Amino acid sequence: MQLPSSPHFVRYDSTDSTNERALEAIAAGTAKHGEIHLTDFQTDGRGRLGRTWVAKPGESLLFSLILLPGETAPPQPHVTIATCMAVFDVLRELGLPATRLKWPNDVLIEDAKICGILLETRGLEGANPHFVVGVGLNLQQEEFPAEILAERPVTSLRLQDLRVARHELLDSIWNRLRTRLDQDARGLFEEYRHALALPNSVQLETASERLEGSLVAIEPDRGVVLETPDGQRKSVALEFVRALSAND
Ligand code: BTN
Repeated sequence: MQLPSSPHFVRYDSTDSTNERALEAIAAGTAKHGEIHLTDFQTDGRGRLGRTWVAKPGESLLFSLILLPGETAPPQPHVTIATCMAVFDVLRELGLPATRLKWPNDVLIEDAKICGILLETRGLEGANPHFVVGVGLNLQQEEFPAEILAERPVTSLRLQDLRVARHELLDSIWNRLRTRLDQDARGLFEEYRHALALPNSVQLETASERLEGSLVAIEPDRGVVLETPDGQRKSVALEFVRALSAND
């Protein structure tokens, strides 16, 4: 999928959720391919699995990108993985070699989350499929609320001693995303697998089972391929993998 050379911006000082604004623009028929809904503050930011996404005004890069790929829409995991890889590329280029990814779409510095990605759609069928790719990247935070820290370690660019203007960061993400969305799926998925920085021995969870084994591959068609301790190869389609982590 190709992106235009620059995005079309829709800006808000404050809004409920940029994902919601983007989905509304699509429903209203006004949305453009490559439109970015951008805000300083969200009153109802949302994360994966029904969680909320909380950030104080001006502390984060908060945006939602609209993709209208036409009839040749890539599968949803391709878009999610391309976005993860674009943010990963940019943070590495900024001089953060400890950047890595966590299944399915968290960006970490070592073990601390710095960016979350939420892909939403209200229709992939028919002639006008769409994706909304929401990105929340921690920029200025010097500390985080106790309820966030209780869930997991978190960090920000400032805590990593980096100060980057929001528009420069967004420009860089946009440029990397243009390349990543256009990349062939096999190469993209292979790089994603490396960016997960998992050891050989992993555990995988679906809604109904937990598997252990060595990670053989992550592929567009077969999904996650494991070799279980009894020597069998098992493939789990990407949409069924709830967690993929080190087996420690
Ligand atoms: C997650 O890690 O759970 C995903 C978080 C995604 C947050 C971003 S912030 C911009 C966009 N608007 C939202 O309401 N959510 C996404």
